[in-house]
Amino acid sequence: MLERMNRSHKSENDWGLDLLHINPKTILDIGCGGGATIQNLLKRYPEAQIVGVDFSEVAVELSTKLNKDAINKGQVKILKATLENLPFKNDSFDLVLSINTYFFWDDFITGLEAIKKVLKNNGTMLLLGDSYKGVDLTEDVQEINRNYQLKLKSPEEFKSALKKLGFKDIIIKTKEKEQWIAAIAKK
Ligand SMILES: C[S@@+](CC[C@H](N)C(=O)[O-])C[C@H]1O[C@@H](n2cnc3c(N)ncnc32)[C@H](O)[C@@H]1O
Repeated sequence: MLERMNRSHKSENDWGLDLLHINPKTILDIGCGGGATIQNLLKRYPEAQIVGVDFSEVAVELSTKLNKDAINKGQVKILKATLENLPFKNDSFDLVLSINTYFFWDDFITGLEAIKKVLKNNGTMLLLGDSYKGVDLTEDVQEINRNYQLKLKSPEEFKSALKKLGFKDIIIKTKEKEQWIAAIAKK
């Protein structure tokens, strides 16, 4: 399942990562799943130190396997951890991203607060979702959302939550045909 996700999320990842015009030295990928986003990040930012976290043991194993060369070089670390209890000091990362996870979070605001804490001042946050509230969802996506009880947010809800928490330079983009949403903001 996570290996299939690695393939199906590639173009969504590219769309979201192409929206960033930064050169981060330290990156955190929360909910790294099968680890494919970390591979993409390594190509884009060959000098960066990258940490992936996921609360699933299987995801940690797969991400570790996929990124073993970069792990052996000391450039990547994969840890078992939850968004709500990240094992990092405040102000640690230039870029914190989380792809296709926001709708699983227990609480959207608590999740965003956790991200803000570990971001450096002026650091960038990227959230990507392959579905959002307010767009016409295809029947199969609606069924997945019902089965997993995903907590979808609308672009307006993304914007107002980020504003409320004091994020700056907020950009919300959607790709309606694909039902994708990207939220980018700075601490
Ligand atoms: C749909 S998968 C996406 C994986 C990957 N980001 C991608 O786009 O292919 C969601 C992943 O987020 C992880 N996850 C969800 N909520 C989490 C949380 N609160 N803390 C850590 N990991 C979480 C899940 O275990 C899963 O591996």
